[in-house]
Amino acid sequence: MSLLLGIGLRSGTSYRELRDLVETALAGLDPRDVVQVVTVDGKEAEPGLQRLVASLGAELFTAPALELSQQPVPTPSEQVERLTGTPSVAEAAVILSGAELVVRKQRSARATVAIGRLPEPTEDHTAAPGYPLAERETVHRVLAERRDVRRGFIDQPIADDVLTRVLESAHRAPSVGLSQPWDFVLIRDIATRRKVHDLATAQRDAFAASLPADRRSKFDGLKIEAILDTPLNIAVTCDPGRGGRHVLGRHADPRTTWFSAAIAIQNLWLAARAEGLGVGWVSFFEPGEVAAVLDLPAQVELVGYLCVGHVEEFAAAPELVRSGWAARRPLSWAVHQEAWGRRGLPGEPPSQVIVQDAVRAEGVAKHVGAQVVHLVVVDAVQPELLERPEVLVVQVGAEKPAADFGVLWRPARSADEAVELGVEVARDLVLQGVGEIHVEVVADSEVSQSLARGVRLGGLACGITCVDEPGGVRDSSA
Ligand SMILES: Cc1cc2nc3c(=O)[nH]c(=O)nc-3n(C[C@H](O)[C@H](O)[C@H](O)COP(=O)(O)O)c2cc1C
Repeated sequence: MSLLLGIGLRSGTSYRELRDLVETALAGLDPRDVVQVVTVDGKEAEPGLQRLVASLGAELFTAPALELSQQPVPTPSEQVERLTGTPSVAEAAVILSGAELVVRKQRSARATVAIGRLPEPTEDHTAAPGYPLAERETVHRVLAERRDVRRGFIDQPIADDVLTRVLESAHRAPSVGLSQPWDFVLIRDIATRRKVHDLATAQRDAFAASLPADRRSKFDGLKIEAILDTPLNIAVTCDPGRGGRHVLGRHADPRTTWFSAAIAIQNLWLAARAEGLGVGWVSFFEPGEVAAVLDLPAQVELVGYLCVGHVEEFAAAPELVRSGWAARRPLSWAVHQEAWGRRGLPGEPPSQVIVQDAVRAEGVAKHVGAQVVHLVVVDAVQPELLERPEVLVVQVGAEKPAADFGVLWRPARSADEAVELGVEVARDLVLQGVGEIHVEVVADSEVSQSLARGVRLGGLACGITCVDEPGGVRDSSA
């Protein structure tokens, strides 16, 4: 059996007092079973406590008062709350540590102790247990039922304690080197929100103008933000340099600092869903524009702009799916075993994308949209092609083109790989509402022909129309 002691103590509590209190509380239990001692943040340096921990041969841990205060304890105390900010330290520390409370709070003049039994290690002594089934289901449920919400917000203020819990969860996100590069700017002021709304509207217009006509009419029916419909907007920022020069894990890949801030947003999103708050992420901005409206310091960057409020309901599926704008990508397309391209779910034999397609694409066919894409396979990009909104250039040449979403870089190393890449291109386009692909090959290479063939195969498997366009060079084998 492994025991844990939760200990609350005033500063200066002697070792002797703590020892006597613990001995009494342990009555009948073996002190050698005590493996952990947990107290509130700030008390770890207490000499009496340190000596007690050493004499028990245990490890000392601490927990923040806020987290302790959120534990449902049997014996809360107003006095303890006044002194420490939590109604319980000893019992709350036991519960927070995942131990079963076996001895409730015992008290001496200056200290309290509660005893918990830690869960037994599983039989093979390797795997820590997961949560019980019902709790697991709740976790998976919140992940599945989190939604990006832009409609149906109701006029109900967000209680401060609810918002604090949501922000606490966001603030618990993992971060590279524990750099915690995020901050949360809470925006309620209508004048500020109007300025941000104007920025989003301008970007919305610009995006609409970039779309081909068939896609634009569909986009016109979509709502892309709720900046003025929600009582609260939250700008989540990133300070890329936070923590200085030697942040652990960031040196080789600086992007990890922005990943960290993005994860904080996901935490916020999930916690908000659990609290019944809708969140909508708006990215119709050039980030610097928002930074200027919010007067952010120059070193701080906007990562996400969130609209938050109570909602009438949470939809069962993403709005972009319900509106037919885009479809979800099957998991089986996203899981590779050991090497890229060997796709298969855990426990399934991996297969190449084409073989899979006949079976897998069926589910996708029902999402087929009306968008027509003119796909042009090239060795190198001709800039004039990019001026036509319906054109998607697929470049097979080895040199990476300048970033432009009008160009898809697919540098295939062999004809077989090119076919695979072509299949993927087609089906990923289908997920984005494409119902017809016109394929034109203007490069005279085996890989470009193979890629075009892959596009036709992928399109066929997804049930869309593929039309050959007369281009510079035609594929005679298809
Ligand atoms: C980084 C990021 C930016 C987004 N920007 C917008 C946006 O500007 N407008 C919008 O309506 N939705 C935006 N979304 C929401 C996505 O459309 C949404 O997450 C996706 O369609 C899936 O729906 P779900 O979140 O309800 O599962 C954004 C989501 C992310 C992760």
